[in-house]
Amino acid sequence: MKSSLEETLLSAIRTIPDYPKPGILFRDITTLLGNARAFRRAIDELVHPYAGQKIDKIAGIEARGFILGGAIAHQLSAGFIPIRKKGKLPHETVRVAYSLEYGLDEMEMHKDAVTPGEKVILVDDLIATGGTAEGATKLLRQMGADIVAACFVIDLPDLGGRSKLEALGVDVRTLIA
Ligand code: PRP
Ligand code: ADE
Repeated sequence: MKSSLEETLLSAIRTIPDYPKPGILFRDITTLLGNARAFRRAIDELVHPYAGQKIDKIAGIEARGFILGGAIAHQLSAGFIPIRKKGKLPHETVRVAYSLEYGLDEMEMHKDAVTPGEKVILVDDLIATGGTAEGATKLLRQMGADIVAACFVIDLPDLGGRSKLEALGVDVRTLIA
């Protein structure tokens, strides 16, 4: 029997209690990535609304956003922008501090990664507090990107990330909660 997208994705994601800190229920997508059918269905569903549209670049957030974002960029014939944890990019960068469900960090993007006005989709595996995606949105907009949408496989709705991004005027798409 053909299972729904939601069932396929939910059953392909593993939950690890108390990782990386006590009290966190970590939603582990490595099992989804290792499941060819679930991986393909997730990418197809994320790509679907933008097929035929002119999307210049996909911005993926390190590290899990690189895996999904690379596949989506290929499908949409778009370029790829890596948004990385500080100190990893070799050329001139813009940097922003951000907080996430279990910590604080800084992320960077190359200054020349976006040409002003380019249509960009932001991609990550999961949105929790939205601190990470908010930081990435700031970097992209600082360099003149037109953010068409921010796409995630998983939403953790109790943590409010979707509302935080929507308040910034970003169209948010998620596949499962
Ligand atoms: C995870 C996840 C998102 C972020 C979401 O990344 O992949 O990027 O947390 O949390 P937030 O909505 O509360 O900001 P993490 O920082 O653990 O990095 P990793 O992908 O390198 O493991
Ligand atoms: N990033 C922030 N919160 C997370 C969670 N609960 N599981 C996986 N990644 C996360």
